[in-house]
Amino acid sequence: MNVTNDQQAFEYLKQLAADKGIDIAGAKVRRSSSRFCLGVEHGDYNGTELFGVGTDRFIWMAYKPNGTNKMRFFSGNFPDDGVVEFEIGNTPEPQSAEVYDTWARFPYGVDYILKREGYTLTQGIDAVLYGNIPGGGMSRSASLALNLIISMLDASGIVEEDDMKVVDLAQMVENDYIGSPCGKLDQIMIMFAKEGKGTHYKPADRSISYVPLGDGARDFRIVVMDTGTVRPGLEKSTYKIRRTECEEMAAKAKDAGFGIECLADIKDEALYEKIKAHFESEFLHLVDRMTYIYKAQKRFYEMLDAWKAGDIETVGNIFRQDGIGLRDEYVISGPELESMCDIVRTVDGVLGERMLGGGDKGAAGCLTLADAADAVKAAVDTAYPRSRPDFADKYAVHTCKVVDGIVLFEDVL
Ligand code: GLA
Repeated sequence: MNVTNDQQAFEYLKQLAADKGIDIAGAKVRRSSSRFCLGVEHGDYNGTELFGVGTDRFIWMAYKPNGTNKMRFFSGNFPDDGVVEFEIGNTPEPQSAEVYDTWARFPYGVDYILKREGYTLTQGIDAVLYGNIPGGGMSRSASLALNLIISMLDASGIVEEDDMKVVDLAQMVENDYIGSPCGKLDQIMIMFAKEGKGTHYKPADRSISYVPLGDGARDFRIVVMDTGTVRPGLEKSTYKIRRTECEEMAAKAKDAGFGIECLADIKDEALYEKIKAHFESEFLHLVDRMTYIYKAQKRFYEMLDAWKAGDIETVGNIFRQDGIGLRDEYVISGPELESMCDIVRTVDGVLGERMLGGGDKGAAGCLTLADAADAVKAAVDTAYPRSRPDFADKYAVHTCKVVDGIVLFEDVL
């Protein structure tokens, strides 16, 4: 189904509901966005500051209280899983085999975490969902968890005023129930996203500030190139290994007396050089991971200054350098992601390109001058099927706008 705007989404939700005999007449619809990270990719679990935007690929969820204690969900993206149905507070155990491969682990996980964290749901809901966020790179899972949390609370008349608490809950759903070792980047960048602005998060005081792109910036586009590959959950990918390696490197440096707690604490060049010299003969791979975080964190502040100044060329150039670091130092990219990067790098007007998000598979992205966006798509359409014939009928190119993260629609169904 090719849903590209809200109206089409509402119509499609109605059609899905009618097919399944679910009543959503008069239901609310909550729309949650995807996100595009401008830095520091893989910095969240290493303690760095973060910057990103909400993008216009979404999950739409229609829901209304059904007057019972039963939750009922149908996802148009996973029709084979059928209608997911359970009683409030009665879900399978976290990370159990029966939930491992079904999207139902998300509504189960939300119900489980809300109960554990002391929220009392009193109303079952009937809900129908559909999303057009590609898997791997644009935070589909965080978008879904946030949407479910806010909507399930709302149906029981509960509003969690503290948005950062909602972020924490959404991460708990993934970390504790699903078993994905994700950080908080995705949830923050969606929960707080504002149209036309970048979101800057500082872990030191958990603060959010909005940074508009400086005046005079050349008109640019964010293009996401979905490779058509399927990326399994982060718990099943290189991501988990990299997280462990970073923790190992930080612990070794701490034990050796370098006075750090996490890799983001290495801001000073002399300190970086000392740690590198101390460990590189024995633990070169760990030093490489540290090198990526150290350099990407340095570039982050240059990127932020460039964004504020409207210097989108420099933002793009740093995006490119980050991509090379993610490929060669962090070693978290994948062959199809790099094919996409190699293709778009050849297009005049492309300012920077790299893999996105968790890594291995999924989507890559680029920043391009607006008038080159069509040429980017044309280059991918020509070269990608030649390079990766197995994915010739699976890849997609998405040109994205910067949008609000969470939006509620009433009186649309
Ligand atoms: C995934 C995770 C995030 C973050 C990114 C990489 O999207 O869910 O927490 O670590 O990868 O920046």
